[in-house]
Amino acid sequence: MFVPEGVVTNERLSRLMDTSDEWIRQRTGIEERRLARRGVSSCDLGLEAARRALDDAGLAAKDVDLIIFATMTPAHYFPGNGGLLAARLGLSTTHALDIRMQCAGFLSGLHVADAFIRSGTYRRVLLVGAECHASLFPWTDAEFAILFGDSDAPASPEVLAWGSAHRDRAVIFGDGAGAFVLEAADPDGERGFLGFEMRTDGAHFDKLYVPGGGSASFPYFSPEMFANNGTIPIVEGRQVFRLATTAMPQIVRETLENRGLALDDLSLLLMHQANLRINEAVQKNLGLPDEKVFNNIQRYGNTTAATLPLVFHEARQQGRVRPGDLVCFTALGAGLHWGAGLLRA
Ligand code: ACO
Repeated sequence: MFVPEGVVTNERLSRLMDTSDEWIRQRTGIEERRLARRGVSSCDLGLEAARRALDDAGLAAKDVDLIIFATMTPAHYFPGNGGLLAARLGLSTTHALDIRMQCAGFLSGLHVADAFIRSGTYRRVLLVGAECHASLFPWTDAEFAILFGDSDAPASPEVLAWGSAHRDRAVIFGDGAGAFVLEAADPDGERGFLGFEMRTDGAHFDKLYVPGGGSASFPYFSPEMFANNGTIPIVEGRQVFRLATTAMPQIVRETLENRGLALDDLSLLLMHQANLRINEAVQKNLGLPDEKVFNNIQRYGNTTAATLPLVFHEARQQGRVRPGDLVCFTALGAGLHWGAGLLRA
């Protein structure tokens, strides 16, 4: 994993909008998040995570047959981050795919990588999830200085008004990147990914989306669009919350049951980190004890496609993923896309 060094506390955010450390902790569980400085893209963050994952695997970039890059904040609208990352890793012919499935992007990347490896199409896959949400919000250098604690200057009334109108979205996101290197390692099939269940319901796309900046708009971008905040995500927070707390436990149960496994067989549940209250509700619904769940939203916020590798890496570092453990990954995000995958560690 790789996260930018800039820590933004709840107290710092409260200088740009009408919010408080107490509200953010109580309603989301987030204590701080990392934000990338201006000029740093999701591809830059992803490159660092990719290098670390390759080092961890004892491999070089040229050993990889396929790159999959999941992000909802690409460095450019097109082409996607996959090819940019490949070039920055010094690769000029390795195929690269891009996934646009927001918080479910990394899970979908695991699903695709698993299928490609099982089919024999590719032998080794580098999967990266990275986000630079800082660029979604129109903060200038002056506001970044306040956020990072470099300045105690008061924010202007205009900034305070804008921040307060977008506070539900501005407090939840954080930046970061994570990467996995995947290969067929166990010919008997006892270890590795056991299977996935993936779902999509596009009827809910407008519960969490960016209205402007696409071919549904004509022109694609316009001054009016910016004036009306048309490039800022719209989040129907309560509805997404409700959908997440019902869809995630259900898909975890189905993924286990469809493989003849039960909740008791589970060693660790790694959930997307959108809101600690969502994860507590999922844990309660499934009746899992605290030792079978690992959360790190407190320090990173919602890092969208980077979240699952961040939680996996930290859980692994803390000795929470032991050989033979049954680990379940689950996520739900804009689209709506959701699913679960099982790993025998
Ligand atoms: N600070 C202070 N007050 C706030 C803030 C804030 N940052 N944000 C909202 N409020 C206020 C609202 O204005 C509202 O005030 P009112 O009652 O006077 O109208 C009150 O708090 C309650 O607002 P809700 O929107 O109901 O707050 P909620 O508890 O639902 O929290 C949140 C909002 C954090 C967005 C929550 O709904 C959530 O986490 N939803 C799920 C988001 C999610 O799962 N996203 C999925 C992945 S993201 C992806 O795929 C890109």
